[in-house]
Amino acid sequence: MVAAVRVHKPGGPEVLTYEDIDVPAPGAGQIRIKQHACGVNYIDTYFRMGMYPSPVGLPFVSGNEGAGEVTAVGPGVADFKLGDRVGYVVALGGYSAERLLPAERAVKLPDNISYEQAAAMMLKGMTAQYLLRRTYKVEKGSTILVHAAAGGVGVILCQWGNALGATVIGTVGSNDKARIAKANGAHHTILYREEDFPTKVKEITGGKLCDVVYDGIGKDTFPASLDCIRPIGTFASFGSASGPIEAFNINILQQKGSLFATRPTLNTYVAKREDLLKTANELFEVVGGGRVKIPVNQKYPLKDAQQAHRDLEGRKTTGSTILVP
Ligand SMILES: NC(=O)c1ccc[n+]([C@@H]2O[C@H](COP(=O)([O-])OP(=O)(O)OC[C@H]3O[C@@H](n4cnc5c(N)ncnc54)[C@H](OP(=O)(O)O)[C@@H]3O)[C@@H](O)[C@H]2O)c1
Repeated sequence: MVAAVRVHKPGGPEVLTYEDIDVPAPGAGQIRIKQHACGVNYIDTYFRMGMYPSPVGLPFVSGNEGAGEVTAVGPGVADFKLGDRVGYVVALGGYSAERLLPAERAVKLPDNISYEQAAAMMLKGMTAQYLLRRTYKVEKGSTILVHAAAGGVGVILCQWGNALGATVIGTVGSNDKARIAKANGAHHTILYREEDFPTKVKEITGGKLCDVVYDGIGKDTFPASLDCIRPIGTFASFGSASGPIEAFNINILQQKGSLFATRPTLNTYVAKREDLLKTANELFEVVGGGRVKIPVNQKYPLKDAQQAHRDLEGRKTTGSTILVP
């Protein structure tokens, strides 16, 4: 039996239950790993409250990101051996001292990436990669708006966008978070709980607006985010920290300047193994080379997963959060 955090019925942080579970020997195509760290992500709260249905029913082990060492290999697995260091993003099963993993979803970690870094960045960092390199290709001279710029995905988007030569504008919920966003590469910050952020974006850009808005907030920043985008620019709505955006009339995209709007998710972008490896390797390169740092600003014992969720949803966290089994 191993320690894990399970959800037996959807609800608030209180439904996260610390208990022992059985982890069987790996089946065909699976590996078993001993986890050194588990990532905490906003998506974990969507599954916990039932906004995203669990693909494995109830109860389920919470968590979608982690890193550890291979302790057993199932039949038909050729690419991994005992002792390999791996990181992953997989729907559910993450908050556990040990777990089974489909081998085709595991990625070997380079020596210069620690377990804690990997658990803090596999999901958030690969998301930043596809948003900046594929959803909208950011280049030198681009101007980008990053909402929740001091958050887990936010600090990575700011650093990486800056390294690509973009002007980075970040919205944040407090002055402390503004300092963190600036320390992580944002050139300008906007206190979006106090200031009208489209007006500020207009001022900062001299009326030119942004090539792309990366919006993980959803309900509270829509449709105002569209007013920050230049004609024929891109609205990348990649999350719903304040609740989902309600159905809207597509003609608004014409009125706001022939905009492109997309609702991307990492799962689609790394569905093929070759894309998973390419995306992960690009992340390992920028982090290994020091261009992007992964601030692990909150670390909790696995048994304190409830507190981790309270802090994340209470807007008390910055950068990445991990649980340590
Ligand atoms: N589509 C994908 O592939 C993908 C992948 C990863 C993450 N995401 C999304 O990206 C977003 C960020 O994820 P994360 O894990 O890095 O979380 P995070 O940004 O570390 O935490 C969420 C932040 O959102 C801001 N926020 C604004 N309104 C909020 C509200 N009503 N309640 C709570 N927080 C609010 C808060 O920052 P301020 O105090 O500064 O406002 C808070 O710290 C989430 O929406 C997540 O679902 C999407």
